Amino acid sequence: MCGIIGYNGNGPAVGILLTGLEKLEYRGYDSAGIAVFQNERPRVVKTEGRLANLREKIGTEEPVNGSVGIGHTRWATHGAPTGANAHPHQSDTGLFTVVHNGIIENYARLREILTDDGYTFTSETDTEVIAHLLEKYYKGDPVQAMVRALPLLEGSFALGILCADFPGKLYGARRSSPLIAGLAEDGSFLASDIAALLQYTNEVYRFDDGELAALGKDSVEFFNSGGEKVQKHKAVVDLSPESVEKGGHEHFMLKEIMEQPEAIRNTLLPYRDKNGKIVIEELALSPADIREINKIFIVACGSAYHAGIVGKYVFEELLRLSVEVDIASEFRYRRPILDEHSLVIIISQSGETADTLAALREAKKRGAKLLSIVNVKGSSIARESDMVLYTKAGAEIAVATTKAYSAQLAMLYVIGAYFAQQLKTVAGQALAELISALAALPETVSRALELSGTVEDIAAAYYTHDHAYYIGRNLDYAAALEASLKLKEISYIHSEAYPAGELKHGTISLIEEGTLVMALCCSSRLLLKTAANIKEVKARGAGVVCVCTPDTQADLEADRVITVPHTHHLIMPSVEVIPMQLFSYYVAKLRNCDIDKPRNLAKSVTVE
Ligand code: AGP
Repeated sequence: MCGIIGYNGNGPAVGILLTGLEKLEYRGYDSAGIAVFQNERPRVVKTEGRLANLREKIGTEEPVNGSVGIGHTRWATHGAPTGANAHPHQSDTGLFTVVHNGIIENYARLREILTDDGYTFTSETDTEVIAHLLEKYYKGDPVQAMVRALPLLEGSFALGILCADFPGKLYGARRSSPLIAGLAEDGSFLASDIAALLQYTNEVYRFDDGELAALGKDSVEFFNSGGEKVQKHKAVVDLSPESVEKGGHEHFMLKEIMEQPEAIRNTLLPYRDKNGKIVIEELALSPADIREINKIFIVACGSAYHAGIVGKYVFEELLRLSVEVDIASEFRYRRPILDEHSLVIIISQSGETADTLAALREAKKRGAKLLSIVNVKGSSIARESDMVLYTKAGAEIAVATTKAYSAQLAMLYVIGAYFAQQLKTVAGQALAELISALAALPETVSRALELSGTVEDIAAAYYTHDHAYYIGRNLDYAAALEASLKLKEISYIHSEAYPAGELKHGTISLIEEGTLVMALCCSSRLLLKTAANIKEVKARGAGVVCVCTPDTQADLEADRVITVPHTHHLIMPSVEVIPMQLFSYYVAKLRNCDIDKPRNLAKSVTVE
């Protein structure tokens, strides 16, 4: 949700800010802007639409010169995505210039107070109150202005700030929204995400909640919320600049789909010892602690939630423990019944999703044990969890997740197998079969990726459809949820996922001649049941594409069949989702959609 960049150095700021914003555009892309100190005054250029529009505007205006500045790419929350609402925003006299990621919940009240004080507003945004408040409380020291103004804000923020009295400085502050600072040979930087900094440095300072910073050309000073200096340590980020480039692929999404064997391999690697047993050293749970768990909750949003549904089936079968999966925005407000015998597993690629973070805090308050599965090291969720297991998907740039989802599944299988091993709920031989299928999963997924050509042909046959229904039972249903989300988010085709047996309780009334039904049929135990449901939709005219394995493909009455390699039944979702991701990708491509940056979406949802 919005990308922030800041630069204070010796080079020309405008190019550095625009290149940084390019790397952050996945976070929001409905308008963009920069402010650069020029002749000791911040000069603002901003416009609605993509970054390309901003580049064009900058190109047609007088050159923007200067080596200190801030930039922003927006995902609108308050006010339409217009040029006036684009960031940066300035205080009345232009003393403060601000870019913001987050939401100021009490902005309406603050706006009233500031209007009464005589400040004028030129946008509908919540951000503008921050610029005015800083000016109101400024007495010659920008850090002290932040110390006085920021506690008045309710909500979340990451801020990049310029103060016209200090043209050689850049300021930052954070509460709940991500922000990092970096120091490189060319100067100092602020950014929402490491992707924008990797070409300069992989050593970063992470803002803790409530912290402020002042950045000089070769210095970064941190302060606590009271304005006292704090010592920070740099963290080294294990990513290369190439990892945030497309690497010859047309889209990040396709690159990331193809990287899945590696993402799974890297995620699994640390957890299998040479005797074929699962070891999880990061887990501070003794076998006795694990035995004391009487209920598992899995809490997440979007695709991470879908990974959690797979986890439920896997854990319940392996552990015979009750598992509840909840959407974080629901869980946080529903007063869940938790105690010290509950284990709450939080799943998040970014580690910054606002609802997921709030759910984690809610679970912590209620005394549950907390284990997070996170892809981004040092993210808020990782830092606030009792225990963290990192997926090793690498940087994921496409808004539609693929490799991070696959890595989350891999991690859930590892946890399930480990708990089963500790609790002895599964016979040795059966567990060994699961673990060895898991070890072979990267290879199995590679073989599923070879279906790309077949899937592209099928996409060409169906891309003009307006509706799609994904059906499956049990783990096939769990995979169908993710398959359906992938299609709708990047191709804008209306799509729903249903348990195959549930369709006839209402939704089947929507099936008519030519309706597309994607049937996931990789569970041999339930094959005949799903086959009967396929017949029901076929009888009503649906066109059916089946995803099955070599042992489930008989008995299926389908128009088109995608046969994926077979593996252990509990980890089939990792395989069957592959052609479904590819199907969504090719359909979206044929429909000329903006695959990596679908409309209305953003990669990291840091607002409620
Ligand atoms: C899926 O393609 C989406 N990008 C979205 O549903 C995502 O999974 C969700 O917003 C959760 O994000 P997180 O994993 O970063 O918490």
